[in-house]
Amino acid sequence: MPDTLDRSGIDALRADFRARLVGARTDRDLKTLNDEFLSRKSGSVTALMKNLATLAPDAKREYGQLVNTLKSEIETALAETRAALESTRPPAGAVDVTLPGREIPIGRIHPLMRVRQQVEDIFTRMGYEILEGPEVEDDYHNFEALNMPPDHPARDMQDTLYLAAPIVGGTWGAHKGAIPEAQLRAATLLRTHTSAMQIRYMKTYTPPVRIIVPGRVYRRDNLDLSHTPMFQQFEGLVVGEGITLADLKGTLEAMMHELFGDVKIRLRPSFFPYTEPSAEVDVSCQGCHGAGCGTCKQTGWLEILGSGMVHPAVFEAVGYDPDKVAGFAFGLGMERVAMLKYGVDDIRLFYENDLRFLEQFPL
Ligand code: DAH
Repeated sequence: MPDTLDRSGIDALRADFRARLVGARTDRDLKTLNDEFLSRKSGSVTALMKNLATLAPDAKREYGQLVNTLKSEIETALAETRAALESTRPPAGAVDVTLPGREIPIGRIHPLMRVRQQVEDIFTRMGYEILEGPEVEDDYHNFEALNMPPDHPARDMQDTLYLAAPIVGGTWGAHKGAIPEAQLRAATLLRTHTSAMQIRYMKTYTPPVRIIVPGRVYRRDNLDLSHTPMFQQFEGLVVGEGITLADLKGTLEAMMHELFGDVKIRLRPSFFPYTEPSAEVDVSCQGCHGAGCGTCKQTGWLEILGSGMVHPAVFEAVGYDPDKVAGFAFGLGMERVAMLKYGVDDIRLFYENDLRFLEQFPL
């Protein structure tokens, strides 16, 4: 039986409790401390009490008081800490008006879609019909009927993406309802240009024609600053009696003024198998207003589209009489317009969906 009272166990436990209490942050922490120190069965203060039995009666009383003091100290400290925690808690159902609001993510219209909507809007006001065509095409509509016979270089495997297995009887939609021409020709390729739709439309409807065909086209190109294997075009086609090159020029001028503001346009002689005469169209460079800069390679002009008067061979292919009607056609790249309009120098940005790029466009 020890004759001097050993207080060191009590003091150690007190120090341990103090240290642990500093780290208690939640009701749960406090409950854990309560259990560890005060639990009737396994609490460490309770365990100290069990030493009493080994002490002499005087020592027993003193030791018992010391342990009891520690026990009530711990109880008080736990109660105070619990009360302090309670007082910092907002009342049930309270709103913390200092919290920042939740940001609602807002989508934007993609720059290519903006261009598409603007072009469709311009031509809808001029009385054109907007329609789409199939992206999986056959050789006849994409090449042959457009005055590109079987040995024409434009069919080169270098440029055209052919299907491994032809598709017979494919279906496709048009805004005007299904174009009834039977899809008997096997689709063998992905269309290389929206011009294919000129043929489908004229084979189905009689003149007058005034259409815009926006849509995806495909070529065997690798990704770089100015190429993507899939890109988008607008095709324009107007056919009627007495349509002239002046109508083409006036129409393109109206479109370019709406798209780019105060620009000049010029027509340069060119060649496309499905137009005669053919012209490439340039707009004056807005970067330098014609003086010459890096964007326009010092020429003052930027090439924007291909166009021309519909070739008689095309009219013959679709069953129109080239002596009775005339027409013009044009095709331009949606990305090209967007790049010039918004000053984008890398076509890949349109397809990477990088928010740092997309968020630069207004809502
Ligand atoms: N199909 C041509 C291309 O993809 C663009 C084009 C040129 C369309 C002249 C036309 C046209 O309708 O008349 O580059």
